[in-house]
Parts: sequence; structure tokens; C-alpha cells
Amino acid sequence: MKIFALTGAGASAESGLGTFRDKDGLWSRFDPMKLATPEAFAHNPDEVHAFYNMRRQNLLSAEPNAAHRALARLEGSLTERGGSLFLCTQNIDDLHERAGSQRVVHMHGELLKARCTACGGTMSWHEDLSVEVPCPSCRCSGGLRPHVVWFGEMPLEMDAIYDALLGADLFVAIGTSGSVYPAAGFVSEARGHGIRTCEINLEPSDNARQFDEGRYGPASEVVPAWVEQLLSSRSSS
Ligand code: NAD
Ligand code: APR
Repeated sequence: MKIFALTGAGASAESGLGTFRDKDGLWSRFDPMKLATPEAFAHNPDEVHAFYNMRRQNLLSAEPNAAHRALARLEGSLTERGGSLFLCTQNIDDLHERAGSQRVVHMHGELLKARCTACGGTMSWHEDLSVEVPCPSCRCSGGLRPHVVWFGEMPLEMDAIYDALLGADLFVAIGTSGSVYPAAGFVSEARGHGIRTCEINLEPSDNARQFDEGRYGPASEVVPAWVEQLLSSRSSS
């Protein structure tokens, strides 16, 4: 069985990382147009660096939750049985990897990586970033930015993502409001190709009617139960 799983901020919510559009979400406290666009970085790099430095420090003290661990288990079990899990995340945290997932596609980039706008190099980065920090490879100052996809920029690895999506037997969206394209369009792409769809969320998202099935509750409870049911039904079939 080939499963395509898309995760959003709700998958990491119970690890203490904020979501974006919930009641006290990040975008209710910070203006994304001032912090998450290339223009914002060009006009006010210090403010953008401070925002991502705060999020990076929060992430370094966070831990994966049961939803991340269940998806890592699902990947291992499906692979053992000749199937596959393509785990595509909109999240920029590394909690899937720390929970044991071997293959994670970060379509919005990764908070624990930096990219140099001068030489294009990307590198692992856990410390605070600022305009004073020179790029380790080209030594250029002021060029390092978070390796994160901002509004107006192209998400990453979209060819691999669409190949995996259209070859899946099941598309499951976990903890995402389905507010931002192109991820928001994955469910209709899947339906258009006759692929079964399932939404796992705290409550029905605005896209809920597009899904064949919905399972609602905290991801740390609903995802492990869903994986358990999937694997036990597969082992009996
Ligand atoms: P966006 O939400 O502005 O829209 C993405 C694209 O989809 C745009 O081309 C838009 O025209 C199109 N679109 C929007 N609504 C649509 C609809 N109802 N029907 C059809 N098309 C629609 O996102 P963006 O500006 O393209 O941002 C690119 C990516 O960067 C997004 O996936 C976003 O999530 C990501 N991002 C990441 C962060 C972060 O901190 N990681 C912050 C902001 C944005
Ligand atoms: N369990 C399951 N779902 C949850 C939980 C939880 N504990 N807590 C919140 N949710 C759900 C909410 O109901 C909501 O549908 O997670 C979703 C979070 O939605 P958003 O805050 O919009 O986050 P996301 O969908 O990941 O945003 C997409 O927008 O700003 C960009 O790049 C950013 O990747 C992000 C993208």
C-alpha cells in the first residue's frame, strides 16, 4: 500500500510549537507580511532574523509527540511489507526526523538550516542568525537567511511531491487548515485521480467536505489509533 501523508502545524501543536491560524496562532500575534516574505527580509532583516531565532530556540527545546512517532512506525511497517509512506510536511521543524522518520520532504524548508543568498549554499544551523554572521563557505556577510519558504516563493521538491501524490493509494492530511496553496490543492488532485482521502484534524477544516473520511481529535491520540487500525487491518488482509 502506498500512502501520501501531508502534515501541517497541527501535527506539532502538542509538542508546544504554535500553529498559524488557530485562535492564538502565530499569525494572530505576528504579521506574516512583515516576517515571512522576501521583501520583509530585504527591508528589515533584523526583525525577520529575530522572529526565526525565537522559533528556532523554541524548536530546540521541543520534543516529538505520539503523532510523529506513529508516522515513523507506519513508515517502517509499510516498507517491511513492500509498501511506502511518502511523508510531506509543511512544517519547518525536525520533529518527524527526531521521531525516527527516515524520509521527510519539507516543502516549506527547514528552520534548522540556513541558506546563503550570495553563494546559494545550505547548511545545518542551530544558532541565532543575524546580518553580521558570515557565510561559512563564501565568507560573505549579511547573506545568510533561514532555509524557509516564504510567501511568494516556490515551495520545494514539488515534482517529487506530485509524482508521489498521484501514485498513492491513500492521501491523508494531518493537522493542516488547508489554507495555503499548493498544499491546499493536494486533496482535489488526489480525488481527481480516484485516490482515497482522509483528513485527521482537531476539528473539520474548511476543506473537510473534500475528504472521503475525517477523524477528529488531538493528533497525538487520533494518529496512533489510525496507524494501529491501518496496520492491524493490513496484517489480517
Ligand atoms: P499563498 O498562500 O499566497 O498562495 C500560494 C499560491 O496559491 C499562490 O500562487 C496563490 O495565487 C495560489 N492560491 C491561493 N489561494 C488559491 C485558491 N483559493 N485557489 C487557487 N490558487 C490559490 O502562498 P505563497 O505566497 O505562494 O507562499 C508560498 C509558500 O510559502 C506557501 O506554501 C506558504 O505556506 C509558504 N510559507 C511558509 C512560511 C513559513 O514560515 N514556513 C511562511 C509563509 C509562507
Ligand atoms: N491535533 C490535530 N490538529 C490540530 C491540533 C492538534 N492538537 N491543533 C491544531 N490543529 C489543526 C487546526 O485545527 C488547524 O486545522 O491544525 C491546523 C493548523 O492550521 P494552520 O495554523 O493554518 O497551519 P498549517 O495548515 O500548517 O499552515 C500551512 O501556512 O503560513 C503558512 O508556511 C505556513 O506551513 C504553513 C502553512
